[in-house]
Amino acid sequence: MTITNIALEKNGAPMYRQIADAIAEKVHNQELLPGTRLPTHRALADALCVTVGTITRAYAEAERRGIVEAKVGAGTYISHTDKPLWTFAAPERPGITSFGYNVPPSINRADVFADALQQLASHPSELNSLMLYQPPSGIVRHREVLSQWLGHHGVITSPSQLLFCSGAQSAMQLCLLTLCRAGDTILADKFTYPGLMSLAKQLQLTIKPVEMDDEGMLPESLRAACQQYQPRAVYLTPTLQNPTTATMGEARREAIIEICRDQQLVILEDDINGLLPNERPEPLVNLAPEQVIYIGGLAKTLAPGLRLGFLHLPEKFYPHFVNALQNHSWMISPLLTAMATILLENGAANQILDTIRIDMKNRWQRVKEHLPDADLRYHPHGFHGWLRLPDDWALSDFLAACKDNGLEVKSAELFVPPGYGAPPYIRLAVSAPPTLAQLEMGCEKLAQLLANPPISEFAL
Ligand SMILES: Cc1ncc(COP(=O)(O)O)c(C=O)c1O
Repeated sequence: MTITNIALEKNGAPMYRQIADAIAEKVHNQELLPGTRLPTHRALADALCVTVGTITRAYAEAERRGIVEAKVGAGTYISHTDKPLWTFAAPERPGITSFGYNVPPSINRADVFADALQQLASHPSELNSLMLYQPPSGIVRHREVLSQWLGHHGVITSPSQLLFCSGAQSAMQLCLLTLCRAGDTILADKFTYPGLMSLAKQLQLTIKPVEMDDEGMLPESLRAACQQYQPRAVYLTPTLQNPTTATMGEARREAIIEICRDQQLVILEDDINGLLPNERPEPLVNLAPEQVIYIGGLAKTLAPGLRLGFLHLPEKFYPHFVNALQNHSWMISPLLTAMATILLENGAANQILDTIRIDMKNRWQRVKEHLPDADLRYHPHGFHGWLRLPDDWALSDFLAACKDNGLEVKSAELFVPPGYGAPPYIRLAVSAPPTLAQLEMGCEKLAQLLANPPISEFAL
């Protein structure tokens, strides 16, 4: 396979970047295999009708991304690397493999963010207007672009019902502050997101856990809990639940919505992981927009550092939430929503999401190779898995052994409300190790531990 036929766009990105991108794409698609020798600078410059300097810059850019290696006097070769496209070497912690936090894998976003910043910088009057106070509901065009992007990913929203927030966590806080008073009860899955429990504690709310199975909350248990506790709302993560990865099928979604309609119970639909799978069931907001407050964010799909989340609200709630946002911070920084708008519009957000999916699939393949017999639930595009420990391991002993072996994992205890017992499960964030080599090293250690439970003590 050759690169002498790369199609270059005269009015597109700089030539050297187009060439580096094309090489990356061919490596990604396995059209160029590791060890392949690339044409000399002169030969490629002639073939593509560009200067030798452009090729030198293109190869340097590809080398910077870890795609090619220049060997002095021998030419440029496709790297023998275990790093997929766009990854960058995030800092490692010697001796520690972190399976702790549900962070996106290390993607090199520097180029696309640099482009977006440059685009902002090249429009001074727009930049000046972004420096002013805006309406708390944000700039209409930014909401329109977000709505369109969500639509492209199967989430139906109306721009006039969208509200930007500082991440999904802040969106959840806004929900609880606006809907609840101290002493109120919220229903949640039996295992649920610790960020919800922390908020509830701060706001003096009670979380009541509801039984769940592999598809999430059980409808009959929800109905019973409604009658027993008169809850203010139910918090659900119907797609790729944190921590169990449970995903509700269509029938389960319908059944849950029917009960909530019947009980006039507001659904807080946390869809933070919902865009990761490339095929997913309809979000609840599509099925019952009047019943659902949709919580989303760009942390898992684009960049956690952007701190951008959003809510889609039933019309009757919208003004109350705008007021709550005003009380909190008046508005979300228009500079951030402008950055996000550029990346959602120019395709970079989709490119990053595609890369995350490819990378996660690759990561899970490696995990399965190392832990073929583990009782592990996961989705190939999801960040975390839910691992049941073998019977011979007690949860506390396993956590201690992980710590001794430099493995950071999250115990099931973190995902149950205070006072409720935790079964022997751990959450593994497979997206977290900075490199594939670290991931594999961590998996080897885990495999060793799982296969070697301690000899049980007995008492006389
Ligand atoms: C289920 C769930 N909801 C909400 C959040 C918060 O997301 P953000 O980083 O956008 O605040 C997280 C973060 O991990 C999460 O796992």
